[in-house]
Amino acid sequence: MSEPKKIAGISRRKLLVSGVAAAPALALLHESLPHQGVHDALGGSQTSVAQAAEGEHGSVHPDSSGHSAHSDFSAGGTVDHDANGFNPTDILRDFDFGRTSRLPDGRTLREYDLVAVDKEIEVAPGVFYPAWTYNGRIPGPTLRATEGDLIRIRFINASEHPHTIHFHGIHPSFTDGVAGVGENRGAGQIAPGERFVYEFEAEPFGLHHYHCHVTPLADHIAKGLYGTFIVDPKEPREQADELLMVMNGFDTNFDRSNEIYAVNTVGFHYLNEPVRVKQGELVRIYLVNILEFDLINSFHIHANFFNYFPTGTSREPSELTDTVILGQGQRGICELRFPYKGQFMFHAHVSEFTELGWMGFFEVE
Ligand code: CU
Ligand code: CU
Repeated sequence: MSEPKKIAGISRRKLLVSGVAAAPALALLHESLPHQGVHDALGGSQTSVAQAAEGEHGSVHPDSSGHSAHSDFSAGGTVDHDANGFNPTDILRDFDFGRTSRLPDGRTLREYDLVAVDKEIEVAPGVFYPAWTYNGRIPGPTLRATEGDLIRIRFINASEHPHTIHFHGIHPSFTDGVAGVGENRGAGQIAPGERFVYEFEAEPFGLHHYHCHVTPLADHIAKGLYGTFIVDPKEPREQADELLMVMNGFDTNFDRSNEIYAVNTVGFHYLNEPVRVKQGELVRIYLVNILEFDLINSFHIHANFFNYFPTGTSREPSELTDTVILGQGQRGICELRFPYKGQFMFHAHVSEFTELGWMGFFEVE
């Protein structure tokens, strides 16, 4: 493996700590991202991924001048949401309650369709990433149910690679989505073109998530195969403006560290399109950290505090704070009201992440 941590001979981290701001670092990325390395990253066996990364579109499109696209990276430039097939502003409030029906025993059955598809996603203006997705979007659909419901997910693998859906929650092993585990060993890993039905009861109430669980696991997650699974308590939470925020990142040069950090995939998106909320209204944020390759992530809000409910499994908050730190797979619910109108920043309190995309604004009206 040749110098996996380097981009054009200089590591991204070294660029940042040596006082060079994110702008030239990104310019360098735009101009010189190597398209090799994915072979090594994936153990050298998954050539079609490498072909995707090295194909006509590559992973990065320099702008026409061949110069830095940074000036429109963080101020005014936007990605092509239509080409991506989703907009992070819509993902905030897009909850999928499934197709519901009543079972003979009185329980609610919720059915969902998830399809794994390979797709190029523009993760920041001009920065393209050959992703693996559920339903063509990152994060995948936000599945939502009430505790005790029966959940049925019809999974089709239309990707070039074997995948699964591993849910967090309480369920039997055959439906756990782990390769090689289950009543039918084929039930573990779902080969390209194959399908599987995951079925289990929604428990416990709280904020959970799902992701692929095929090795190399870091790659199957980092490529984009994850989504959120919310189990509402039987006694509903207080009415609120509810927002999904999945903290993620993208290793666009396959050196096993991230070049782009974001909430809901697109770096700097909520800087360009602030999250609009109403003064005095209860806001509930479903906050999930799925970030690969970094040990921690964090969420910090300016000029306000929130009640924090770790994993959303208790009705009582653990803390009133303005900053939480999360490892990969950790998640929690933040509840707050904005007493003042205006623009309020939110960002990772890991300064390096903010400069590479993980920052945004609430616009309180
Ligand atoms: Cu996978
Ligand atoms: Cu997990």
